[in-house]
Parts: sequence; structure tokens; C-alpha cells
Amino acid sequence: MPTPHINAKPGDFAKVVLMPGDPMRAKWIIENFLHDAVLVTEVRGVFGYTGYTDNGKRISVMASGMGMPSIGIYSHELFEHYGVEAIIRIGTCGSYSKEAHVGSVILAQGACTDSNWAYQYNLQGGVYSAISDFGMLQTAYNAAKELKKNVVVGNVLSADVFYDTDPDYWKKWAKLGVVCVEMESYALFGNAAYMGKKALSIFTVSDSFVEEGILTPEQRQTGLKDMVLVALKTAEAYAD
Ligand code: HPA
Repeated sequence: MPTPHINAKPGDFAKVVLMPGDPMRAKWIIENFLHDAVLVTEVRGVFGYTGYTDNGKRISVMASGMGMPSIGIYSHELFEHYGVEAIIRIGTCGSYSKEAHVGSVILAQGACTDSNWAYQYNLQGGVYSAISDFGMLQTAYNAAKELKKNVVVGNVLSADVFYDTDPDYWKKWAKLGVVCVEMESYALFGNAAYMGKKALSIFTVSDSFVEEGILTPEQRQTGLKDMVLVALKTAEAYAD
């Protein structure tokens, strides 16, 4: 029963899926952190794999692409047609906070948005607050502590526009305590909530609006590795 965007067979996906934005990062995770992995889908070059952790837990990794329409499609099809119970987005973000430096890891407690994603819920002018699954957030926080990795926990912005025409746009969100910007979590959390599933987002800060500097290749590798280790430990708690 392939869906319009996934050509895997029933049962090919594990109960838990890690979702980086980039298909090449999905491949990197499979090659470096999981074993006995099989490629289960490759429509549009959006690779999905299922493999095993060192502790024998079955986990899938599939790219989401960029932006809410893209992660909205893939998460919907995974939740609705492939029996996936939990999705952990692992991506990069731009920091709005002096506490989250380039290379830091952030756990999303909730997601704000400037998109119209929640329009479909017909809330008659109401505003839907998208949040991560508390159990997963707690598990990830404890996993980070156990791994001795510092994490920042907070509200994030899922933006529709990367190259905004207003260079000060971000300051309004920062004033409200929003710690970083990315482009996917609101739709992922909304889908999970609507479909009775679970979701969490974990980020590595790739750029900052409040500090100079960009991620060096070493910081990028370390930050990404920390994020993946926290994500895998969290995923194991929800996997078979
Ligand atoms: N904006 C939006 N998404 C992002 C950014 C950013 O600055 N950095 C990484 N993902």
C-alpha cells in the first residue's frame, strides 16, 4: 500500500521514526549509528531506512524535506498508513537566545508559527498552541542529562519564510521568549495531536541572530552527534 510519497511495504517502518530534514543526513545516521539497515522508501530521493540500535531496538530514519508542507505530508503518511506511533524531528535552527549558542542542542517544548497550518482545524479564530509530547520531552531531557549533554528547552518558531523581508522580524518572537527558529515543528506537532500520536523536535543551532559566528565543521559534527545521540536514546524508549 504505497502512499503518494512513500513506496515502503506495510511493516517496513518501525514504531519510531527519526526525521532529519536532509536525505543525506538520514543516510549519515544510518551509516554511523544503526546497523542491519534496509532502505524502505526512496520516492523523490527522500530516503527512508529501518535499522537497529546497539541495544537491538528497531528504529526508522526518514527525511522530512524542508518546511511545513513537506513534513506535513510525510508525517501524515507515516502516522496514517505505516503504523508509526512517534516521530522525532532532528534538524538545525537559528538561535534567538543568548543561552543557545551555535552548536548547542535545543529541545522544543512547543512551537509557534506564522503559517496558516491550523486553518484546517476550523477553530473559528482560535489559536492552536502546538506542543511536543511531554513524555518524549522528559525522556529526551533525561537522556541528555545521562549523556552529560547540555540542552536548552523552550518554545520555538516554525516559520514559513527563511529570507524574511523584515530583518527585525525575529525580535518580536524573541521578546516572547522564543528560543529559536526552524520551519517544520508546528505542522509535525499538529499532525501528531490530531492523529493521536507523539512527536518531539530536537535541534542543533546552526546559526544565531544574537551572536557572531557560524558553525565550524567540527562544531557542526559534534552538535549533530549530540543531537542524534539524545534522539536515539529517546527513540529507544518508544521502540520495539
Ligand atoms: N531560519 C529558519 N530555519 C532555520 C534557520 C533559520 O535561520 N537556521 C536553520 N534552520
